[in-house]
Amino acid sequence: MEGKKVLITDTILRDAHQSHAATRMKFEEMEPVLLLLDEIGYYSLEAWGGATFDSCLRFLNEDPWDRLRNLKKYLKKTPIQMLLRGQNLLGYRHYADDVVESFIDKSIENGVGVIRVFDALNDPRNLETSIKAIKKYGKGGKCVCEATISYTTSPVHTTEYFVNLAKQFENMGADNICIKDMANLLLPFTANELVSKLKKALKPETKLHLHTHNTSGTGDMINLMAIQAGVDIVDCALSPLGNGTSNPATEPLVATLKDTPYDTGIDIQKLLPIVKHFNNVSSRLEKDGFLNPKVRRVDINTLLYQVPGGMLSNLMSQLKQAGQEDKLLECLAEVPKVRKDCGYPPLVTPSSQIVGTQAVWNVLLGRYKTITAQYKDLILGKYGAVSGKMNPDVIKMCTKNGEEIITCRPADLLEDEMATLTEKVKSDGFYKKQEDVLSYALFPEVASNFFKWRKANEEGIDKDMAENPDKVYPV
Ligand code: CO
Repeated sequence: MEGKKVLITDTILRDAHQSHAATRMKFEEMEPVLLLLDEIGYYSLEAWGGATFDSCLRFLNEDPWDRLRNLKKYLKKTPIQMLLRGQNLLGYRHYADDVVESFIDKSIENGVGVIRVFDALNDPRNLETSIKAIKKYGKGGKCVCEATISYTTSPVHTTEYFVNLAKQFENMGADNICIKDMANLLLPFTANELVSKLKKALKPETKLHLHTHNTSGTGDMINLMAIQAGVDIVDCALSPLGNGTSNPATEPLVATLKDTPYDTGIDIQKLLPIVKHFNNVSSRLEKDGFLNPKVRRVDINTLLYQVPGGMLSNLMSQLKQAGQEDKLLECLAEVPKVRKDCGYPPLVTPSSQIVGTQAVWNVLLGRYKTITAQYKDLILGKYGAVSGKMNPDVIKMCTKNGEEIITCRPADLLEDEMATLTEKVKSDGFYKKQEDVLSYALFPEVASNFFKWRKANEEGIDKDMAENPDKVYPV
């Protein structure tokens, strides 16, 4: 049997608890095992970015930048990996290039060693600034630039399409290419074919990294088939927060590959104390209502409807609110039509919500009788370019009041923001470091509340006030 050592990224500190427990793992729940994790021999530990930044500020009263620096104190051998949404960074809109550049500069300075960067629409222009900045601030081996394909299925998303996209990313300077199968839509045999073709097309030094989930129960098979086709790195999550809506569990894969040419070199015995620790964390998350044991089950809806799990629950809750729960199957039939009309975007945040909501409105109010502002923006190119062709009739409906279609890179229309944002944070009395401006840029309200809490805490104002930043006290 031919093959080479497979590298593993463990997502226990990021995607695992984001997928299973609303991103509520605290730093103090990571700290006791960080030195042990650092000794395992992982390719990287995904520990920052994604929803962790928002969750730190909003729910955990943690400064995400402090968390990063604290992780770095322990993780001296294993690179810290983060997930970044291109021009959206970790927020929900497009940011100006100077914010993107500063954010990446500070992420690397504070300890990030691998940046996985993706765009929901797979528009390479939305990754341009990030990739350039990662190359600039991460040079000399400080940070790996991992450009990412958002995997989806449609008539335009052929293997050839993905290979071309990956080549484009490689030409832009990416060190690694990631296949991000966030919705667990990739099937094992397709994974085998896709990985073989990508490995053939990419430079030998470009590492191919696979990220899938186990929502519909195919995750381990996807990983194994991809490994046989030559994938270099796969994402897993330690079993206490692995499988189900999270990534496939680490230990079964390590055991599967042991004493084969693909042997990960990881000693499963060394994982045991870490697993024990996270079993306790997982129980705490369940006890506090953040982890519903349902997330661990196999859910075949993705296989049936090609709709990601999160999107399905959104559709159901929207219909419930409208008192029209019996319309679910109609909506599920409408989703692919609405998606086709806007050029087959991958269904991931934010396009999954945009397409899903328009599908609900089409079913409840009649096709395109009302068009949501976000769907219109997608049609007008404000999120970037989609890979397929849009329906000309829908374009006509969205431009009937003279609205213009954007064909340039959306961020080209944005003025620099850092100076204004810095001014604002300073005048509010919250400025301590440039990172504060970045937190504010991403989540203005949430960050301001956090800053108030931090200030009260530091100035020794009573604990109640520190912990309830929104409470109004009588003067
Ligand atoms: Co994921």
